[in-house]
Amino acid sequence: MRLQKFLARAGAASRRGSEDLMTARRVRVNGVVVSELGSKVDPSCDVVTVDGIEYRLSDKPVYLVLNKPAGYLTTMSDPRGRHCVAELVPTAEHPGLFPVGRLDADTTGALLFTTDGEMAQALLHPSHHVEKTYVAQVEGRPSEDELDELRRGITLDDGPCKPAIARILGRDGVSSGVTSVELRISEGRKHQVKRMLEAMGHPVVRLHRKAFGPIGADDIASGSYRMLEEREIAQLESAAKIKEHA
Ligand code: URA
Repeated sequence: MRLQKFLARAGAASRRGSEDLMTARRVRVNGVVVSELGSKVDPSCDVVTVDGIEYRLSDKPVYLVLNKPAGYLTTMSDPRGRHCVAELVPTAEHPGLFPVGRLDADTTGALLFTTDGEMAQALLHPSHHVEKTYVAQVEGRPSEDELDELRRGITLDDGPCKPAIARILGRDGVSSGVTSVELRISEGRKHQVKRMLEAMGHPVVRLHRKAFGPIGADDIASGSYRMLEEREIAQLESAAKIKEHA
């Protein structure tokens, strides 16, 4: 198998990103730097590392969803020793498990993990428009005009947002001054939901992701995960526009 394909399937990076890792001389096969694109690797016996971390192909890819608690970074390790989501998922049983995209440290809810690099890339690819559903608690009460702006698509400092689906869910107590808003977006830019609502004059107090595409995690306790069922994996494949998943 071509080394860049191996790296993508093992979750090191996208196919293109894997090529960049190789040309940056960060990839070793059996201890030897391999930077030539197109080099081959035998997944059954070669040891492939990126920056010293070994990547393997699982026999069968693994997919799970974590109900992420607040206070955990979406990363598999933190040099400063802060809590990270890797502590909450079975990394020893499933080497190569990694999160699909990111949630901010203070955001809770559905965070997918997989060992399937190609599926992850497909789910995150902007052209596939996989919908993410968020519930934000915001200061004040957004007006219908403000929600309409989000529905038409506002422009943030890093460019225009695609139209969002937005609705008020309710007021969290008359005196709290906080309103629950559901926002569905198909993009995944940094702090996007917080920035969109802040731009409307309603800073986010709390943010929860109810679902990533068809997969939610509100049925499991905060900090717990569950393996996805075959039916859910098929739904994800269809959301990611992967027809036949090898
Ligand atoms: N948008 C945000 O602002 N934060 C998240 O964690 C996810 C989406």
